[in-house]
Amino acid sequence: MTAVEPQHVVRPLLSARTLELLERADSGTLSDLTALRDEITRFLMRYRFGVSEVETKLDILREEFNLTAGYNPIESISCRVKTMEGVLEKAARKGVDFDLDSIREGLSDIAGVRVICSFVSDVYRIVELLTSQDDITVLEVKDYIARPKPNGYRSLHVILEVPVFLSGGPEQVRVEVQFRTIAMDFWASLEHKTYYKYDAQVPQHLIDGLTEAAEAAAHLDETMERLHHEVRGYQPSAPTIAI
Ligand code: GTP
Ligand code: MG
Repeated sequence: MTAVEPQHVVRPLLSARTLELLERADSGTLSDLTALRDEITRFLMRYRFGVSEVETKLDILREEFNLTAGYNPIESISCRVKTMEGVLEKAARKGVDFDLDSIREGLSDIAGVRVICSFVSDVYRIVELLTSQDDITVLEVKDYIARPKPNGYRSLHVILEVPVFLSGGPEQVRVEVQFRTIAMDFWASLEHKTYYKYDAQVPQHLIDGLTEAAEAAAHLDETMERLHHEVRGYQPSAPTIAI
């Protein structure tokens, strides 16, 4: 077997146009490009760390509930950081300038965490336990559970800042955390796929179907909550370890 030249691995990733530009670039331009690439890497890295901090906090809450109450209020946690392409696309859509300071200020969902709970009461309990932590600064709360969107979308969104401790000192990183139940998530993912597929030109009967499904999901959440309280008894506060 012949060894693969590193060039052959890297080159197909770049378009012919990019290769042509790189071949013609002088050393000043190349070092500018390298500096820009490093700056973007550092910019996105902070968001990855911010997401990890929030995820760890949620993992700890989940584990504590599991160990002390034998009860799991969080079904799943998923995290994502937008790609630079996604960041620039959103900045363009929102009319935010293309410099990193404006983007940091103007976009609140570069780092995203989604928390899926079984029950609505767990959503509120976990939101309270996370946002009351000393190092968390809450910037905005959108409670689409108390006030669903006209299309039936329900979830609780919190935009917060969490410190990440870098070699140069702590930095506040903005993270959007979306909390929802399994039923809300089921609905939101179907609604998202529907709008994606029809490119926002969704036929009326599907819109009606989604509205009906949103009502059914809300009703299911209410029924599950009632049954859950009856089976377990309602625990309004976090369990404490009995020593
Ligand atoms: P964008 O961040 O530009 O979307 O606007 P915003 O910050 O005003 O919106 P909002 O906080 O209401 O929503 C932010 C995110 O919540 C979206 O990016 C979606 O992930 C989710 N979301 C909001 N509304 C809907 C909806 O109607 N359907 C679905 N499936 N998801 C929604
Ligand atoms: Mg947003």
